[in-house]
Amino acid sequence: AWTPVNIIEDAAERVREQVGDAHVLLGLSGGVDSSVVAALLHRAIGSRLTCVFVDTGLLRLEEGDQVMRVFDKHLGVRVIRVNAEQRFLDALAGVADPEAKRKVIGRLFVEVFDEEASKLSNVRFLAQGTIYPDVIESAGAKTGKAHVIKSHHNVGGLPEHMKLKLVEPLRELFKDEVRAIGLELGLPREMVFRHPFPGPGLGVRILGEVTKTAADTLRRADHIFIEELRRAGWYDQTSQAFAVFLPVKSVGVTGDGRRYEPVIALRAVQTIDFMTARWAHLPYELLDVVSRRICNEISGVSRVVYDVSGKPPATIEWE
Ligand code: XMP
Repeated sequence: AWTPVNIIEDAAERVREQVGDAHVLLGLSGGVDSSVVAALLHRAIGSRLTCVFVDTGLLRLEEGDQVMRVFDKHLGVRVIRVNAEQRFLDALAGVADPEAKRKVIGRLFVEVFDEEASKLSNVRFLAQGTIYPDVIESAGAKTGKAHVIKSHHNVGGLPEHMKLKLVEPLRELFKDEVRAIGLELGLPREMVFRHPFPGPGLGVRILGEVTKTAADTLRRADHIFIEELRRAGWYDQTSQAFAVFLPVKSVGVTGDGRRYEPVIALRAVQTIDFMTARWAHLPYELLDVVSRRICNEISGVSRVVYDVSGKPPATIEWE
């Protein structure tokens, strides 16, 4: 029978056969798939795995520290953390169009990753967290069947000049199998069942131009929302939930007086395939707590709104 233990042993054996005694490089994002690949490869080849984690400055609150805690400290995986926040902010300055932002972020990500990769002399393989649905989706894209509305940069080919061979140990697995082996490999439950997070990160959740102030504000608002969702038992009942930074100023009034600050929108959806989605009918009491906390704890926010749009016609992300 295909138990998580069987799948792990089988996949680890195949990886060992494929890579021999060579070294493998992995871009670790903190998402479920790349995390499971990291844990699996560590099990299969130990210290011959090196992970590169690029902190774009567009990640969630304390996400970088969490990734380092789990992999570097807890599992003993070799992870190189690159703090590239300033480079991303500089590259994004003055860029407001969603697809243009995706291109800038995607290109810079590859550039930063490449720089680190080229410092490692003995690497011959590149591991990727491709799972079976990604294989189907990109096959569809080639024949023009898939509805590719946005350019997703995290499923794609290698930069030509890197000449590394691919290792994709999750290529035949579905998401629930990936999660099951992740748990078996000792990854924290919270990481294994985390909502998906887009490659461009907060870059497409800050509408228009990305600034450091907006990113810091959004990170805190998002953290409050997720914390309260978890506390209320709603996190696992939603497929994706997050805050969005609206660069439109609105007037508010607090004990200290008048405020004229940006607006935070909350988005929570339920979906099976992310192609269509229903907005989550969160309890008013929960929305009330989240809204109060965001306005009280973050001085740079004047008000909070809840997104009641389904997909279609709206997409899940705001950009
Ligand atoms: P939309 O907004 O198109 O999102 O309804 C559907 C799913 O795709 C994710 N998404 C992205 N993921 N790069 C990614 O890796 C992207 O550019 C991107 N845009 C959207 C979104 O978070 C949702 O899960």
